[in-house]
Amino acid sequence: MPDVAQATQNQREALPARAGTLARKRDFLDLGALSAGELDGLLRLAARLKAELKSGLEHPYLRGRTLAMIFQKPSLRTRITFETGMAQLGGHAIYLAPQDIGIGERESAKDVARNLSRWVDLIMIRTFAHATCIELAREAAVPVINGLTDLLHPCQLLADLLTLRERFGALHDLKVAFVGDGFNLANSWIEAAAIARFELRLACPAGYEPGKEFRNRLRDLRGGLLTHDPIAAVRDADVVYTDTWTSMGQEREAARRRRDFKEFQVNRVLMKHARPEAIVMHCLPAHRGEEITDEVIDGPQSVVLDQAENRLHAQKAVMVWLLRPEILAHQGPVASDNL
Ligand code: CP
Ligand code: NVA
Repeated sequence: MPDVAQATQNQREALPARAGTLARKRDFLDLGALSAGELDGLLRLAARLKAELKSGLEHPYLRGRTLAMIFQKPSLRTRITFETGMAQLGGHAIYLAPQDIGIGERESAKDVARNLSRWVDLIMIRTFAHATCIELAREAAVPVINGLTDLLHPCQLLADLLTLRERFGALHDLKVAFVGDGFNLANSWIEAAAIARFELRLACPAGYEPGKEFRNRLRDLRGGLLTHDPIAAVRDADVVYTDTWTSMGQEREAARRRRDFKEFQVNRVLMKHARPEAIVMHCLPAHRGEEITDEVIDGPQSVVLDQAENRLHAQKAVMVWLLRPEILAHQGPVASDNL
């Protein structure tokens, strides 16, 4: 009989390499850091994990691993899908609420990162300043995932691209219209269009355009358009996407924003300008009667619940890629042309 120390050693050897031993730590902070091949690989892995789950197959790729989830803003989808996803992968997730650790107030991001790296294998953060997310990733020895900042929401976009692949197959021939605020979701759509090479039209009120860097990136895209006319953006589009007019942290501006965005509602009249088979997307939570009507979000063109479901599968793929990169590599040659 092996002694306890020997048994523990055997168990350790049976586990795949831990994050600290990865040759090169990767993070998932923005889609722009991915190659087209990596994006295609993540989408293929997400589709496989989804199919396996639906046919009752287990895939405990992250057995014994722990994810720390730092939330400085509220969440339904991000919290539930990371926690459920980690459980389905055989791991464990710890929820840290805004009042729990006070990152940058009770303790610096650097100290939080260095402490967490001694205990957990992976960190997810939802915060305000993107710089906090970058600092956390720089100081952490384990991979960090951006679960939304004021700048970007890459997890949402990965789920959205998975939803588009399910609906349309290849992405590069699509015409996507984003109608709303030039904030985190719009920026992430610009990053996605740059990799997947679809046409992106962005309609927002004057004064709500994305920052200069993202405006320049949009201008350089094939078919990239920035307009103040929602009809021009939606004309012949395959996809019409919207998001809240008042994002988390902007609540005090809500009344002014409701006035400024009035002409940017996604409703039946606006949808008449899109292709008849166009789909409607929203990252949720929705403010029904503001950026989108009940009739449209509950109508036959809406795929919002597919998007929400796909958060689970897309983020499982991200976590597996960060902690078990060999699983993505074993999927076969990268296929950037698939996008
Ligand atoms: N779309 C999204 O991130 O939802 P939550 O804010 O509920 O996580
Ligand atoms: N733009 C929204 C997205 C919510 C998922 C916000 O930042 O609140």
